[in-house]
Amino acid sequence: MEIIAVINYKGGVGKTTVTANLAAELAYRGKKVLLIDTDAQASLTFSFVTPDKWDTDYKTSLTIKSWFDAIGEGKESPPLTDFVITPTNVNNFLTSQKRGGRIDLICSHLGLINVDLELATLLGGVNLQQAKRNYIKVHGKLREAIASLANSTDYDIVLMDCPPNFNIVTKNAIVASEKILIPAKPDFLSTLGIDYLHRSVNELVKEFNEYAELDGETKNISPKILGVIFTMIQITSGQPISAQRQFIAQTKRLGVATFTTNFRENKTIFADAPQNLMPVVLNHYSNSTHSEVVNEIESFVDEFESLL
Ligand SMILES: Nc1ncnc2c1ncn2[C@@H]1O[C@H](COP(=O)(O)OP(=O)(O)OP(=O)(O)O)[C@@H](O)[C@H]1O
Ligand SMILES: [Mg+2]
Repeated sequence: MEIIAVINYKGGVGKTTVTANLAAELAYRGKKVLLIDTDAQASLTFSFVTPDKWDTDYKTSLTIKSWFDAIGEGKESPPLTDFVITPTNVNNFLTSQKRGGRIDLICSHLGLINVDLELATLLGGVNLQQAKRNYIKVHGKLREAIASLANSTDYDIVLMDCPPNFNIVTKNAIVASEKILIPAKPDFLSTLGIDYLHRSVNELVKEFNEYAELDGETKNISPKILGVIFTMIQITSGQPISAQRQFIAQTKRLGVATFTTNFRENKTIFADAPQNLMPVVLNHYSNSTHSEVVNEIESFVDEFESLL
């Protein structure tokens, strides 16, 4: 089972869109995918379920917030499988394709913002030893829970859509992940953010492993950055506009791996997909641009699979 976090500090760079389409294409290829929405904005959740359905059926006890709440209350964390739902629309389509693929989802909740504050209160301790043990416990919860999924479920891959921040919930996703995917827009601020993200991940890994060594029971973590997938590319004459090419080149110079394929910018095609509860890559072609967009997503998934 592959465990991947999709992250960038920067908001609105296409993290959720990349996650939804990657999941959809992998499931179309026959993979069993579990999505975990760790962003309080719940954009990934609402790309697969309607707000009404979420409100009536999932909000109270079937979200990642409920799972984290159980930890905050000091209870033994319940298995993640208790919180998994199977979104109807996308899975009806996948089932009709008879390739064996599926997308399951652990929804998010706006109240996830408060979870962070509650988790923060569990940090610290009467002495340094205790504080370090609590650090491992608080940051390693999702990791433990996902690891036990591997034994009790048939998922091929777990994809976690992270919020644009580096709070305790996000750190849980990074600690749990084996690989990290970074969607980014090729502009000045996004390029700065990638370098900063790279360093923050390294610091988190160092700190976690240092404490894990003292703990003696916790295994070290070593999430690997798969690479940067550039999104919202403006194409002229078949290639990104020159300003964007510069920022792509700059990212390469940072020494961070980049995907050869990009997601082009197309507001019409990408904006409607969440509302239809069907990622772009699975929609019927509406025109030749749509089929080009789908080709790009497919090539990205080819590259992605070759890196696993
Ligand atoms: N390739 C694209 N072309 C045009 N619009 C896009 C593209 N990808 C995403 N969008 C749109 O840009 C907006 C932000 O995308 P998305 O939600 O995927 O970003 P995000 O990084 O997950 O944002 P956040 O940081 O808020 O979680 C959405 O309205 C989405 O429909
Ligand atoms: Mg998002």
